[in-house]
Amino acid sequence: MTEPARYWPPFGLTLTTPRLVLRPIRDEEIPAAVEAALSGIHEPGRSPFSRPWAEAPEEELGPNMAQWYWRCRGTMSPGEWTLLLGIWHEGRFVGCQDVGARDFATLKTVGTGSWLTRSVQGRGLGKEMRAAVALYAFDWLGAEVAESEAALWNRQSLGVSRSLGYELNGVTRVNWGGKVHEARKVRLTPASFKRPDWQLQVEGHEPTAKFLGI
Ligand SMILES: CC(C)(COP(=O)(O)OP(=O)(O)OC[C@H]1O[C@@H](n2cnc3c(N)ncnc32)[C@H](O)[C@@H]1OP(=O)(O)O)[C@@H](O)C(=O)NCCC(=O)NCCS
Repeated sequence: MTEPARYWPPFGLTLTTPRLVLRPIRDEEIPAAVEAALSGIHEPGRSPFSRPWAEAPEEELGPNMAQWYWRCRGTMSPGEWTLLLGIWHEGRFVGCQDVGARDFATLKTVGTGSWLTRSVQGRGLGKEMRAAVALYAFDWLGAEVAESEAALWNRQSLGVSRSLGYELNGVTRVNWGGKVHEARKVRLTPASFKRPDWQLQVEGHEPTAKFLGI
C-alpha cells in the first residue's frame, strides 16, 4: 500500500482494464487532469455537462477542477460519496470516470459521469472505462443499479450506454448552465449488463469499501 493510502484509503484503489488504469486522482495528478481538460473535451459552445465547467477560461479551470476534486474528497462519507477516477492510457492522463452514490446501503444504486480528451475519443475507451466502473459497482461493491444521463444529442455518451446494455429510463428537462436541455436517463442492472469479454483487475478494494461503509 502506498503512503497516502494509509490515511486516505481510496488512494489505494486501482482498477485495470486491457487498455486503461483508473485510480482516484491525487493532488500531484491534478495538473495532468487540468492539461487534459485544456486540450479539449468537446466542441466549443456545446457543453455536454450539467455545468459547463470545461469552458471556463484557462486561469479559472485549474482552480475550479482542484476545488471540485477536494470538495468531493472533503465531503465523502458512507451516506454520500464520489470516486473521481483519473483515466491513464499508455502512461498519459486522458480523462475522468466518476462513480458515486447517495444512501448506498439502502438504495444499492450508483451514478456515473465521464469525459475523455477529444484526441482519444471514438476508440472504445469511453465504453471500456464505464464498463470498468459498472463491473466494480456490481461485482465488488454489490450495487444493483447503475444510472446515468446525457443530453439527447450526446450520441457518444448514449452510444456507450446502449452498447453496455443500459435501458432507457425516461427523458427529463434540465437547466444546464442556464440553457434548457432534454436529458435521457438510462439505467443498467446486472441482468441487462452486456459484460465485456475481459476481466477487471482490482487492487485496494477492501480498505476503500470499508471507508465507504460497504
Ligand atoms: C462520452 C465519452 C466518454 C464516450 O467515450 P468514447 O471513447 O468517445 O466512446 P466509445 O468509442 O467508447 O464509444 C462507445 C459506443 O458508443 C458508440 N458511439 C460513439 N460515438 C457515437 C456517435 N457519435 N454516434 C453513435 N454512436 C456512437 C460507439 O459506436 C460505441 O458503440 P459500439 O461499441 O456498440 O460500437 C467521450 O466521447 C467524451 O468524453 N465526450 C465528451 C464528454 C461527454 O460527453 N461526457 C459525458 C457527459 S454525459
